[in-house]
Amino acid sequence: MDLQEKIELITRISLDLNQVKDLDILLERILANVRLFLNADAGSIYLKEGDRLRFSHSQNNTLQNIIPFPDYDQPLVIHFASNAGLAIERAQATRNTLLRMISMAELRDPKETGAHVNRVGAYSVEIYEAWARAAGIPEEDIEHNRDLLRMAAMLHDVGKVAISDIILKKPARLTIDEFEIIKSHTWLGAGLFKDGQSDFDSVAMEVALNHHEKWDGTGYPGLNDEINELHNKLFPGEDTSHTAKKGKDIPLFGRIVAIADVYDALCSQRVYKKPWDEYEIINEIKKSSGRHFDPDIVAAFFRCYDILKNISQKYPDHQ
Ligand SMILES: [Fe+2]
Ligand SMILES: [Fe+2]
Repeated sequence: MDLQEKIELITRISLDLNQVKDLDILLERILANVRLFLNADAGSIYLKEGDRLRFSHSQNNTLQNIIPFPDYDQPLVIHFASNAGLAIERAQATRNTLLRMISMAELRDPKETGAHVNRVGAYSVEIYEAWARAAGIPEEDIEHNRDLLRMAAMLHDVGKVAISDIILKKPARLTIDEFEIIKSHTWLGAGLFKDGQSDFDSVAMEVALNHHEKWDGTGYPGLNDEINELHNKLFPGEDTSHTAKKGKDIPLFGRIVAIADVYDALCSQRVYKKPWDEYEIINEIKKSSGRHFDPDIVAAFFRCYDILKNISQKYPDHQ
């Protein structure tokens, strides 16, 4: 690469970084780009926390072929670093705002811990990617959707801020009426994003509204009057005559977060249950294919299953 090409590359990369919203995806992207630029096979990112450096991300293809870079790269690298620094600050601010929204939901429902939402976000992205590659979705769309879905999936239960503590923290089984109230966290959560104009808002709305729908049409909230009203505002002219969402009527990101959320619940300890063992979990997911879950999404889940297991170690419940 000559100097002209490098300047062009750095400009393109800097513009690209400003489009990314999610912090982890941004850090991955920065590292991949800077390695491309410097022709380096490995790299690490450290984030400054107070006066310490915290190891954050690392990529390593092989340990060979590390080529020393020429002197004239240095100003370009400094320029890139200052752009990347700004992009990181912006992504951290967005992430912090979302984490505060999540903490509000967590204050209401102690099951919705930071670790749980991080895992559901990370699982969803991997399952989406496995699905999208098989479906032949263009690389650019995959990257874009990964970014949006990660944060949207983290907010799947944000509607619980509107549900009474008396119900969410009830130590006994819920009555039918109480369960009806719980169901409203889906469309109440979706309502938080309904006036938004951004791609992120529409993905977050899709996830919040649909993550309890089931492939066979037995999930919720379906389309009752209140939801129809909201739905008509959001998607004018679309058919809402049916009362349950079924199969591919359930939007894709809802179908993906549904399996990520259930998988995490099965793996986790709850007041009323122990974590299931791996054999039982795999069986349950397989059994639910075509009933609770979209069979294509279940297939994608198993294609990335090893990565999902690694993610659960990255975000343990008690740190
Ligand atoms: Fe939920
Ligand atoms: Fe959840």
